[in-house]
Amino acid sequence: MGKQFYITTAIDYTNGAPHIGHAYEKILADTMARFKRLAGSEVYFLSGLDQHGQKVQLSAEKAGVTPEVFVREVSDRFIALWDRLNVRPDGWVETTDVRHKRVVQDMLQQLFDEGQIYKKSLRGWYSVRQEQFLNEKDREADGSWGGQWGLVEEREEENYYFRLSDHTAWLRGYLETHPDMIYPANRQTQLLNAVKDSEGMDLCISRPKSRLTWGIPLPFDDDYVTFVWFDALTNYASFAGFRDREPEVSGLPRWEDLWPCDAHVIGKDILIPAHGIYWPIMLHACGVPDEQMPKILVHGWWNMKGKKVSKSEKIEDDAVVKVIADLVDPNAIADVVGADGLRYFLLADIATGGDSDISEERILVRYNKDLADILGNLLNRTLNMARKYLGGTLVATTHDSELHAGLREAVVALPGKALGHMKTWQIHQVLADIIDGARLANEFVDKTAPFKLAKDPANADAVASIMRHVAEAMAHFSVMLSPAMPETAARIQGQLNWVPPVGLTLGDLRWGMLPDGHVLGEPQPLFPKVQVAAAG
Ligand code: ME8
Ligand code: MG
Repeated sequence: MGKQFYITTAIDYTNGAPHIGHAYEKILADTMARFKRLAGSEVYFLSGLDQHGQKVQLSAEKAGVTPEVFVREVSDRFIALWDRLNVRPDGWVETTDVRHKRVVQDMLQQLFDEGQIYKKSLRGWYSVRQEQFLNEKDREADGSWGGQWGLVEEREEENYYFRLSDHTAWLRGYLETHPDMIYPANRQTQLLNAVKDSEGMDLCISRPKSRLTWGIPLPFDDDYVTFVWFDALTNYASFAGFRDREPEVSGLPRWEDLWPCDAHVIGKDILIPAHGIYWPIMLHACGVPDEQMPKILVHGWWNMKGKKVSKSEKIEDDAVVKVIADLVDPNAIADVVGADGLRYFLLADIATGGDSDISEERILVRYNKDLADILGNLLNRTLNMARKYLGGTLVATTHDSELHAGLREAVVALPGKALGHMKTWQIHQVLADIIDGARLANEFVDKTAPFKLAKDPANADAVASIMRHVAEAMAHFSVMLSPAMPETAARIQGQLNWVPPVGLTLGDLRWGMLPDGHVLGEPQPLFPKVQVAAAG
C-alpha cells in the first residue's frame, strides 16, 4: 500500500453523552476524509474514545457499576451516534484496548530505561472530597478554598515525572522552522509563546493506585497507573500501527504507510499544552524524527449564547421557536432536520478555525431556506417538469443561450473552487458555492420559463435543453455535496436515476455526465419543510 492521507480526531471523553461539539469535530473530520477521497487520495480516518481516568472511575462508582460496564454503555452511545450521522472512521480507538495498552507501556518503559522518567515527592493541597490535588488557581478571590472542595489538607505524594524540560528547546526550534505545523497560523504563534513560558517544567505522568485504579499500570511500578497524557495522546500512534508487534493479525494499519499524521483535528481548548507541547515532545523523545511530526488542525467552539457547549454545563436556549427538544444533543437535532440537516448546519454555519453560536433559529433557517427552498425545490421541480414535458427522458438538444452557458460555467467551476477552499479546510465556502449554484439553477428555470415555453410544441428543443441543463447541474451538485451530505447525495442520485462512475474523482467531473436518452427517476421531497410556530 502506498502513502495515505491520515486524519484523526481528538478522542472524546466517555464521561457523559456526546454533544454537538463532539458531533461537529467528527463531522468535520469525516467530511475532510470523504473530500480527500473524492479528490483522488487514499485516506485513513481514525476516531474514537478516551475511556480511562478518575472522573470515569467516580461516575461508575456513583452509578453502582464497574468502570468497564460504565464506559461500554457510554461508548455505545457515541458509536450509535456516529453511525446515525454517517461518520465512518476507518479505524476505531478505544483506550482500554490491549493493543493500545501495550504501546503505551512500551513507550513508558523506553523513556524510563533512558532516564527520561524519574520519581519525585511533592507537597500540595489535596481535596479529600474531590480526591485531587488543587492548584493555586483553584483558590477563591479571597484566597480560601471554595466549599465545593470539602476538606482541603496539605499532603505529600510521590509520583513519576517525564523530563519535558529536556525537550522544550527542541520544540521551540521545530516550531520556528516549521511554521505550518498548526493551522490556523495564529494558533502556532500562541503555541510558540506557550512553549517559551513552559521552559523548565516537567510533566507528572502518574497517579498512585490508591487514588486511581482505572488506568494503564506503569510497566516499571505496579503501584501506579499512568495519568492522561501517555494514555490518551498515544492513541494517534498506537492505532496507527506504531510499534505493532503483530502487524499480520492486529487489524491495525501499517505505520510506514500511514505516518505522519496529515491532520490531527482538535478543538482549541486542547492545543496548549496537550497536543501542541506534550504530544510532539513525547514523539520526539521516543525517537520519531522531525520529518515525521504530525500536523494539527485546530477548530473553534460551538457556543450557546456565547458560552462553550460542554458536557458539564447546561445552557438553556430560550429562543421563541421550540421544535428541537435539546440543542446540545445531536440526536435531538437530527430527529427534526435529519442527519444531513445536522451535518449541513454544523459545516455551513462556522468557518473552520473560528467559533460560532448555535441556536434553533439558525438550524431551521439553514434547513428550510438552503436545503428545502433552494436545493430540494430545484430537484423536485426539475423532475416534475421533466416528467410532464419530456416523459422523464433527456434527449439530445441544440438550443443554447447566454443563460445556459452561464449555468454550465458556474457548475463546472465548482470542483476547482472547492479544491482551493479545502486547502485550508473551509468547508462552509464549498457548501456556499454549491447552494449558490443551486440558486442560480433555480433562477435559470425562472428566467427561461420552460413552463411557459412548453405550451407551444415548437419550443420542444428549447424545453428539452433547459431540463437537460438543470438535471445535469443537479448531478454535479450531488457529487460536490457527497462529502458533507452523503445520504443526500445518494438520494439525489437515486431520484436522478444516475449512478456515478466507480472511482469518480473531482477531476473527472465534466459537463454531460447524463447521457442522451437518460431516463430520470421519481421525484420525492428531499427536505420536508419544518413548520415553525409563529413567534409569539
Ligand atoms: O478533550 N465545540 O475530550 P472532550 C467544538 N478526551 N468542539 C468541542 C466542543 C465545543 N463546544 N466541546 C468539546 C477531551 N469539543 C479529551 C481529549 S485527546 C488526547 C484527549 C471538542 O470530550 C474538544 O475541543 O472534552 C476536543 O477536540 C473534543 O471535542 C473532545 O473533547
Ligand atoms: Mg500520511
